[in-house]
Amino acid sequence: MGCGMISEEYLKNMIEKFSILDVVGCCDLDAEKATACAQQFGMEYMTMDEICADPTIEIVVNLSAPPAHYAIIKNLLLHGKNVYSEKTLTVDLSEAKELVELADEKGLYLGVAPDTFLGSSVQTARHAVKAGMIGKVTSCKAQVLRDRRILAQVVPFTTKLGCGIGFDVGIYYLTALLSILGPIELAAGFYAQNVHEDEHNDPSKPNYEEKYSVNSETIMSAAVRFSSGVLGTMMFNSDGIFPEQSELMLCGTEGVLTMGNPNDFGGKVYLQAKGNENRIELPCIYGFSGNERGLGVAEMAWAIRSKRPCRANKEMAYHALDVLHGIIESCQTSQFKKIDSSFRCMPPLPSGYLDENYYGANQESALR
Ligand SMILES: NC(=O)c1ccc[n+]([C@@H]2O[C@H](COP(=O)([O-])OP(=O)(O)OC[C@H]3O[C@@H](n4cnc5c(N)ncnc54)[C@H](O)[C@@H]3O)[C@@H](O)[C@H]2O)c1
Repeated sequence: MGCGMISEEYLKNMIEKFSILDVVGCCDLDAEKATACAQQFGMEYMTMDEICADPTIEIVVNLSAPPAHYAIIKNLLLHGKNVYSEKTLTVDLSEAKELVELADEKGLYLGVAPDTFLGSSVQTARHAVKAGMIGKVTSCKAQVLRDRRILAQVVPFTTKLGCGIGFDVGIYYLTALLSILGPIELAAGFYAQNVHEDEHNDPSKPNYEEKYSVNSETIMSAAVRFSSGVLGTMMFNSDGIFPEQSELMLCGTEGVLTMGNPNDFGGKVYLQAKGNENRIELPCIYGFSGNERGLGVAEMAWAIRSKRPCRANKEMAYHALDVLHGIIESCQTSQFKKIDSSFRCMPPLPSGYLDENYYGANQESALR
């Protein structure tokens, strides 16, 4: 559902990488886009009604832009479909809650991106924490810097309220931290809402000199306390530059772990151990280190077949959204915001599935 920018990567991976997935059709409001996509990947162009009426379709993957998520997901759940959605679950928090409750009521799976935390970088870091390599974790830090004026040319929804840098990109950092450290109980934050008109400034693009309005949270910063007692700081800033600057770090009593950009699946993990002059690169002991978009869908499909919860699940996604809205509310009220939602940490993926060309176990075996 949604044949836009990210759909090609998803479709390529879902068709080629994961045997559990059998991709049958695509749909878009824009029939031309959907037809071209259907032709490119040798599948059927379907309408929403046709998808809803087809009992053989078990999962619908929602790749529309966030403002369309609520209506699409609700309709699919009401028609008995399991849904895997790109982030964020919805723009409005109360609508996200309604969808979580609806999926529970119907006994359907609702998986939500980001799934990059299932990649080798975050899984390796999680393993290092569990193995005690940095002692007791005491704090964490997440930071990303981007230039929203460039993004607005290619990802227009990032100019809308509830779709700014924290929601669009910060969520990768937040989800990575949640998957390792568990839920957050308290947030305090600031945000800058940049409301103005801007002009597309890339002469090579057809929309050059076109005006657009900006209404989004262009910077969000926060201090948070996890239920485990770990303290964290976050800074998500789109009033900056490209190349993107990214930092994701866990600090403990015995060392410091630095992960790769959590918008990617791979990325090196470094350990700075207490008393050692130099940091070392940790061997990557997990699979899924390339472009793995679609991994969360495949993991959910295996979860459906095995009748177990999926890892990129609605509870963690809702909690992440709750935290981001909590940061906004804290700024508006000048008060700490208690985060009411929570989630249960899912088990890590099994280690040892290194490369798809490795003799022996296929990477997908890790998802069974
Ligand atoms: N672009 C990226 O690099 C990127 C990366 C990771 C995740 N995502 C996420 O993927 C999703 C899509 O992003 P994108 O950049 O591909 O957006 P996009 O705007 O390029 O594509 C979205 C598509 O959804 C279609 N659409 C909108 N409403 C619809 C409806 N009601 N029914 C059917 N189709 C509908 C649009 O016509 C469009 O073709 C977002 O949730 C985004 O956060 C994007």
